[in-house]
Amino acid sequence: MLRHPRRLLAAALALSAGAAGLVLAGTADAATTLGASAAEKGRYFGAAIAAGRLGDATYTRLLTTEFTSVTPENEMKWDATEPQQGRFTFTNGDRILNQGLSNGSKVRGHALLWHAQQPGWAQSLSGSALRTAAINHVTQVATHYRGKIYAWDVVNEAFADGGSGGRRDSNLQRTGNDWIEAAFRAARAADPGAKLCYNDYNTDGINAKSTGIYTMVRDFKARGVPIDCVGFQSHLGTGVDSTYQANLQRFADLGVDVQITELDVAQGANQANIYATVTRACLAVARCTGITVWGIRDTDSWRTGDNPLLFDGSGNRKAAYTSVLNALNAGGTTTPTSSPTSTPTSVPSAGCSATVSLNSWNGGYVATVRVRAGSSAVNGWTVTVALPGGSALTGVWSATGSGTSGTVSFGNVAYNGQIPAGGSTEFGFQGTGSGPTATPACRAS
Ligand code: XIL
Repeated sequence: MLRHPRRLLAAALALSAGAAGLVLAGTADAATTLGASAAEKGRYFGAAIAAGRLGDATYTRLLTTEFTSVTPENEMKWDATEPQQGRFTFTNGDRILNQGLSNGSKVRGHALLWHAQQPGWAQSLSGSALRTAAINHVTQVATHYRGKIYAWDVVNEAFADGGSGGRRDSNLQRTGNDWIEAAFRAARAADPGAKLCYNDYNTDGINAKSTGIYTMVRDFKARGVPIDCVGFQSHLGTGVDSTYQANLQRFADLGVDVQITELDVAQGANQANIYATVTRACLAVARCTGITVWGIRDTDSWRTGDNPLLFDGSGNRKAAYTSVLNALNAGGTTTPTSSPTSTPTSVPSAGCSATVSLNSWNGGYVATVRVRAGSSAVNGWTVTVALPGGSALTGVWSATGSGTSGTVSFGNVAYNGQIPAGGSTEFGFQGTGSGPTATPACRAS
């Protein structure tokens, strides 16, 4: 639960005690790497990596043998990708991307908007200038990596610590409470294939902060704001909350995937057990799609002195490593599912209906359309939208489009034509000019 856990005086003692008490379990044919074992359970096992370490042979050996997902530790953050306004540098981000893709790994993008690690020019902006710059940043970076990223942390750490359950104050928050949904809509428009996550820390159990985020995600799902996943950083101290798994499950029950995104655990008597508890929790929640540890060796960790990772400074497996591998190999059969399970806010009586939510700016817009089935299942649909004069369509996702101005029609694609009675699906489009204001017509076929 600790954000910046202090160095533990008993660390060395506890490490040797933990290692001595270790029991090597597993069967003769059990998987022997984290990635392979997680894959047997339909999940990935990832690490945060740094471009500057890719020349280290021990590091890359562990990376390529043990892990099936990578997250750039710093290389895709705002200060790294847009050091001057409108001038983008993707060199190091691309190195992480290519390292991951060439190894057949997933790549988690981290992070499009965050109050920390902003370039100086963004730190000094405010109001609509900052909002416009932030949305442009989301669009440009997500577009550069379009089609390559498994999941983006679209917004990182936007909620306050403590008991308020509210937002953290930041320059981004001061642009208006809707900055988070504007970022998600822009990210969806730029890369419709990436899962879009909200990511935060101190959310490792049912508490005021995680409940604040839960309420936001529930609201996003109800209003059709595109969100697919929630990341739980899980920078842990010497204990883990008894509601850790229940907390993951309540988010999954909202119809989003959950992921453990930055796991590290303070060295101490409980380190191996806490790692196992977190691993088992993910395996027990069907929509927990994977675990990422925040670094490979203790010496690679941002938590200097905490020795919070699975490999020691020489690249040897620690007791915590064996504990995770055993937990993965012993894991049950809760297969991850990512099918949309969103609940409609109101159920029309027959046929289908459609509602639009708009994210507009001066000169353009992104429209997200929710298509709802009535009291009978729908097997194919067409939505017709009247665009205002001067508006022109520039892109469509999760639907086929016909026409670019005036009255335009959208039809389902193969995977979202069938909607169960009372269920719903979503598609979107973007355009120049101003977006539609009238409620669209929906026809079930
Ligand atoms: C950390 C990196 O590990 C450090 O190298 C950097 O100096 C600061 O950021 N939450 C996050 C991560 O979402 O991006 C942070 O990474 C750790 C906390």
